[in-house]
Amino acid sequence: MPKKIRLGILGGGGDSLIGVLHRVAAFINDNYEIVGAVFSPVHQDSLDFAKQIDIPTNRIYPDFETLIAEELKLPEEERIQVCSVQTPNFLHFRMAKGLLENGFHVICEKPMTMTYVEAKKLQEAHKTSGKVFALTHTYTGYPMVRQMREMIKNGELGRIHKVDARYYQGWINPIIHDKEKRAAVWRLDPTKAGISSCMGDIGVHAFNMLEFTTGLKVKALLCDFNYLYDENVMDVDGTVLVRMDKHVKGVIRASQVATGEENGLAIRIYGEKGGFVWKQENPNFLYFFTEGKPLQVYKPGHPYNSKLSLDGTKLPPGHPEGIFDAMANIYLGAAKAIRGEEYDDGEFPTMEDGVRGMNFIEGTVYSHKQGNIWIDMD
Ligand SMILES: NC(=O)c1ccc[n+]([C@@H]2O[C@H](COP(=O)([O-])OP(=O)(O)OC[C@H]3O[C@@H](n4cnc5c(N)ncnc54)[C@H](O)[C@@H]3O)[C@@H](O)[C@H]2O)c1
Repeated sequence: MPKKIRLGILGGGGDSLIGVLHRVAAFINDNYEIVGAVFSPVHQDSLDFAKQIDIPTNRIYPDFETLIAEELKLPEEERIQVCSVQTPNFLHFRMAKGLLENGFHVICEKPMTMTYVEAKKLQEAHKTSGKVFALTHTYTGYPMVRQMREMIKNGELGRIHKVDARYYQGWINPIIHDKEKRAAVWRLDPTKAGISSCMGDIGVHAFNMLEFTTGLKVKALLCDFNYLYDENVMDVDGTVLVRMDKHVKGVIRASQVATGEENGLAIRIYGEKGGFVWKQENPNFLYFFTEGKPLQVYKPGHPYNSKLSLDGTKLPPGHPEGIFDAMANIYLGAAKAIRGEEYDDGEFPTMEDGVRGMNFIEGTVYSHKQGNIWIDMD
């Protein structure tokens, strides 16, 4: 058994939404141990949280610059090898860049940066570093999403006709109508979230899922946002028409004000031979339509699934795995890359996905603001 990879964590404190998903995911396949962290901008909070989850406090640092400086003083065999960036968006770029430039591998939350320009700069830093960079578009780690990708790659849908990615949440509805509540949410603050709330936070997942599952790239887009209030500068709902490679057309719909919706991500892809429907809230069911035949339902863990899908399943069929396991699959892929082992390019989203994601987010804002015009993506 190879030694565990020494993991550092930035953000993801006890008060965070996503921290527990990363910590559990990192442990699921026994590849990582947390050896250092900055869980919070308040040092005492980081120390308290480290004690609470039983991590030694000697490498809990006041900020990420200190983490880098102090870790570099340690012998290489003790030093943090990879840092996972789980802070609000405005810190991703400076943290990830600082880490790569100082020889650390990086696992980073989406959206990768605040701007497309930053994304390109980070891409340069990544190239120069030669280090691993994994972006946690969690949903690509689900076995049935991987199965969809592999079946499309094998031509089982034939020529693709139509793509439809819908990501509906409703959590901003109780907040958006009250100016004070609105001001307290970092996702609605452009200095913390970037130029988009809805497309930056969830639309970008939907965009990534379309490119991941079809293997096609979005070439052009046209976006219409809804801000609900004139003085609200951040989109809370949007519809994006997309034109992909090979004349494939479709739509990305995202909303944070779809009242009552929880985490309603759904992907639909239709081709000349059949179609797929997959829904995040019921992730172990992949619906496969074929022309003239009854509906088939694919489930994880069965030998009829592809290697990429089966590599993401740990238990026999009928033992449901979920979002923790999907994130764990991304950590597993990153662990293989960090150890220099072979891995499939579907095992974790990369720097290129991050750059395309930022190109997409900025494209949607530009399209909307210019009067809903078509924008070419790079
Ligand atoms: N992959 C996914 O499915 C998914 C889901 C949710 C959130 N996210 C992303 O994860 C990131 C965090 O989102 P969240 O909802 O957990 O945010 P959050 O506000 O709930 O938590 C952010 C955490 O970062 C910490 N933090 C803030 N400033 C810091 C600093 N300077 N140094 C160290 N720690 C600091 C906070 O103390 C807190 O613990 C965002 O970029 C978000 O887009 C991704």
